[in-house]
Amino acid sequence: MIDIELTEIDRGRSFIPGGVNSGQRQVPGIESLVVTATSGSTFTDAEGRTYTDYHAAFGPPLLGHNDPDVDAAVAEAGRRLDNMGVGVTPIEARLAEKLAELVPSIEKVLLTMTGSEATFHALRLARTATRRRHVIKFQGCYHGWHDSVAMNVISPADRIGRKDPLSGGILPEVLDATIVVPFNDAAAVERALEEHSGDVAAIILEPIPHNIGAVLPQPGFLERLRELATEHGTVLVFDEVITGFRHGLGGYQKVAGVTPDLTTLGKAMANGWPISALGGKADLMDLFSTTPGRPAFFAGTFNGHPAMAAAALATIDRLEREPVHEHVFRLGERARRGLQEVYDALDLPVVVSGFGSVFVTYFLQGPVNTYTDLLANDVDLFVGYRRELMKHGIFELPLNLKRSHISYAHTEADIDRLLEATNESVRAVLARR
Ligand SMILES: Cc1ncc(COP(=O)(O)O)c(C=O)c1O
Repeated sequence: MIDIELTEIDRGRSFIPGGVNSGQRQVPGIESLVVTATSGSTFTDAEGRTYTDYHAAFGPPLLGHNDPDVDAAVAEAGRRLDNMGVGVTPIEARLAEKLAELVPSIEKVLLTMTGSEATFHALRLARTATRRRHVIKFQGCYHGWHDSVAMNVISPADRIGRKDPLSGGILPEVLDATIVVPFNDAAAVERALEEHSGDVAAIILEPIPHNIGAVLPQPGFLERLRELATEHGTVLVFDEVITGFRHGLGGYQKVAGVTPDLTTLGKAMANGWPISALGGKADLMDLFSTTPGRPAFFAGTFNGHPAMAAAALATIDRLEREPVHEHVFRLGERARRGLQEVYDALDLPVVVSGFGSVFVTYFLQGPVNTYTDLLANDVDLFVGYRRELMKHGIFELPLNLKRSHISYAHTEADIDRLLEATNESVRAVLARR
């Protein structure tokens, strides 16, 4: 099915608006990209070129693409147990218990398919529990496509400080009910809570805003959010769709030692298979209509799909049994250190940031604490060196502020090649100036 002629692909994709199935897959400069195969740390395009992949589908394949254990678990579950839509399956039950065992904030958990569904339900639950209207989100954080949060991610300078919706069709009253504040600014959060006193249902954040690369939380920031949420009776939601599992089996909350009320998980949870989760305090989670008579409606035909739950269990099993995090953290460290050396030698002001397996270089004078600091990024250089990297058979998404990911399938030799190629690519862009 995937071995079809390019002309057929072009014909077929003409029936897809824009030719891709998610907004950010249409990347300037590589509009014609057709991916025909993935394997471990690589992907191959329709022209037969193979790239070392650091984009990693925005983060899921922590073990590498097409991991044989995970894929075998999916096939095995698929052979024996289809999605039934009534009752529960043993695989879902086992996964729920595992998630509660691993993630500090999770006492009870529900399964969905995508990160957007998980964050949607988190906010609906927070509003149901508190009977309040507003939610607080941070400029630069992305929590999916639904109306309450689809705003103020990579905003142009003139839209910072006001609503910057990602889409038309969002009701003004929904936009009004989301308060956008700067990341790492606890005083701004406190002001917003006071200004809307008694009417903020939730504070939602990526504990590391990876949708703008890797802006690290300042010491004390997450702790202060925890205090403020508790003081104001507001539900604290850590959106760990990226950080969960990638940064540790207990999520970034375990690393930071800060426990939110609700947590969303997705992406790396099943190494690329579509499953996500919303978990948290039992008294909140028990408000869902999965308990008869409870007020927060929750449903989904594919929720807890046995083959996807099997993928998650197989992924977690590998993460528990093998030194996956040790490997990707070591390579991440090597990449960040090596990149800093490359840029030092070029005498280029940069901030090489990241955490664990995630890395990104901002071309600006630091420090980087909040989204507005990133407006100084040299976008042409950021995007330009990534386009050059493709000539070396290396793929980092050539879009402004996008992070890169290392998987268990990447090797030290891959990182060494990355460093060499980055050096040449950055020099090539600078030489054209
Ligand atoms: C932090 C975060 N939350 C939520 C989402 C939405 O997840 P999905 O695309 O699976 O709906 C994303 C997607 O990139 C994300 O990065």
